Amino acid sequence: MHIDILTIFPEMFEGPFNHSIIKRAQEKKLVSISLVNIRDFATDKHKRVDDYQYGGGSGMVMMIEPIANCIDSLRQKRNYEEIIYMSPDGDLLDQNISNQFSMCNNLMILCGHYKGIDERLREAYITKEISIGNYVLSGGELAAAVFTDSIVRLLPGVLNDETSALSDSFQNDLLSAPVYTRPSEYKGMKVPDVLLSGNDKEIFKWRQDRAVQRTNARRPDLLKG
Ligand code: ADE
Repeated sequence: MHIDILTIFPEMFEGPFNHSIIKRAQEKKLVSISLVNIRDFATDKHKRVDDYQYGGGSGMVMMIEPIANCIDSLRQKRNYEEIIYMSPDGDLLDQNISNQFSMCNNLMILCGHYKGIDERLREAYITKEISIGNYVLSGGELAAAVFTDSIVRLLPGVLNDETSALSDSFQNDLLSAPVYTRPSEYKGMKVPDVLLSGNDKEIFKWRQDRAVQRTNARRPDLLKG
């Protein structure tokens, strides 16, 4: 999979993409991620990417030209299944959406700033808008990092234990069962006996029951479907 992320702050991705699972996925060539600086496609000598909004009002708007130039140039090299704009107006990200996007070959993700992007970009270029929650961030970068992480970890070969993504919370609309590691007793607090029993069938059943119990208690909305 290849992901192009269009941003005016490429440095913001250095932390999230250069550690842990996403770093390893890139090293193993399971994904390539390019950070594309929108400013490089600005046409005036000040490299301007934002301007005042027509009709007045506070807050700047990201201009159509640099972003359109950037997208046009990238599209000459690749066929993108989706051009995604990170925005609080978008579809609320969930595991289902991440699963679907993890099957794509080429994705473009646009990060907005200030008041947002010129509406004509949304009409002419954007095929999907995604929100990571009902709150407003200062820009799309953190949201794009969250979205990218949720996709990349699902690519075959990225996680060591192939089945571990399948037992994540939200897969099958269930939260995960509780997990424990050594020691089996800490200050009187014991790990449930069944997990030490070696009986795979019982352990599977216990985990399933606890996942349902926890989902019922904390996120009954997930069980409605
Ligand atoms: N940009 C600003 N806020 C956002 C949000 N909640 N989700 C995605 N992109 C955003």
